[in-house]
Amino acid sequence: MRTHLITGGAGFIGANLAQSLLNAGDRVVIFDNLSRGSRRNIEMLSSGAGAELVVVDISQHLSLDTAFEKVVASPGIDEVWHLAANSDIPAGVRDPNIDLRDTFLTTFNLLLAMKRYGIGTLHFASTSAVYGLQVTGAFSELDATLPISNYGAMKLASEAQIRAALESSLERVNVFRFPNVVGLPATHGVILDFVRKLQLNEATLDVLGNGTQRKPYLHVSELIEAMMFVREHSRESYSLYNMGPEDGGVLVSSIAEEVRNQFRPNASIAYGKEDFGWVGDVPHFSYSTAKLAELGWRPRYSSMHAIQRAVAEVVSQESSR
Ligand SMILES: NC(=O)c1ccc[n+]([C@@H]2O[C@H](COP(=O)([O-])OP(=O)(O)OC[C@H]3O[C@@H](n4cnc5c(N)ncnc54)[C@H](O)[C@@H]3O)[C@@H](O)[C@H]2O)c1
Repeated sequence: MRTHLITGGAGFIGANLAQSLLNAGDRVVIFDNLSRGSRRNIEMLSSGAGAELVVVDISQHLSLDTAFEKVVASPGIDEVWHLAANSDIPAGVRDPNIDLRDTFLTTFNLLLAMKRYGIGTLHFASTSAVYGLQVTGAFSELDATLPISNYGAMKLASEAQIRAALESSLERVNVFRFPNVVGLPATHGVILDFVRKLQLNEATLDVLGNGTQRKPYLHVSELIEAMMFVREHSRESYSLYNMGPEDGGVLVSSIAEEVRNQFRPNASIAYGKEDFGWVGDVPHFSYSTAKLAELGWRPRYSSMHAIQRAVAEVVSQESSR
């Protein structure tokens, strides 16, 4: 049995990752400040032992030390999955301190603590937002990174800090660049946003931007599969993979229609004028997932299939609250 530390494990993707590791019979410890994640997400995990939650703000290095002292002693941590970050990109554009604190300092402090406690394996949740605006074809892992949001910038800085730590303390690193991820338990994102807007105003769904933004979406179940596949099959000490569907993505207008049709079929949809949702939003991008396919993992779902499944799931989550 291996012991895994998941930072941000009380959030959307972290809870799914925890479930997958528990299913494999491993021990899971979660560090989360519950700013966006919840105890409920952890209590919902099905396993005999469940995951151990330590409530801690990882951006505060003294608090992080105390948290490590609590769990490291017995029987020690084998692998760290760093998912804690700010997941509200517009909030980070309004106040860059948010991404400095929750997206970068969490990484910085975690690396110092891993060095102190001799933990060598790190898996990192990075993002398509490191690439910035798309000028030519689909982004590959070797393309230039020119982020346009503070969130993307602090994820890129985290990637760089992690790469540097590989020279002095880490032994193995997997960096995963996620696309937009959808599914349960939804804590944020376009589908949850649309459903909640329609709960407040049943007649009209107000959409940020003119609906022409097009992005790739992956269902969280497939994302976790892909992460596990890279963990098992990559033989490099530092690996970097784009993760996503094998299509050009879905229009925001198609997502709005899907939510309206499944949740409030009589509502109208009102679009904004801009061709982006908010400052820092990358309105169009597509990914090359050729490197991941070469390693041997390919998604089964298209972006639209992932959206249709996730809309049904999120509508059910919000209707039962
Ligand atoms: N969901 C997506 O579409 C998506 C896309 C690209 C990358 N990612 C990355 O994947 C990871 C997980 O995202 P998610 O969608 O599950 O978001 P989430 O907000 O549900 O999860 C992030 C978790 O981190 C915790 N957290 C934030 N700041 C913290 C701090 N200072 N100390 C301790 N805990 C803290 C939050 O409470 C939350 O539980 C993040 O790193 C995110 O940037 C997500």
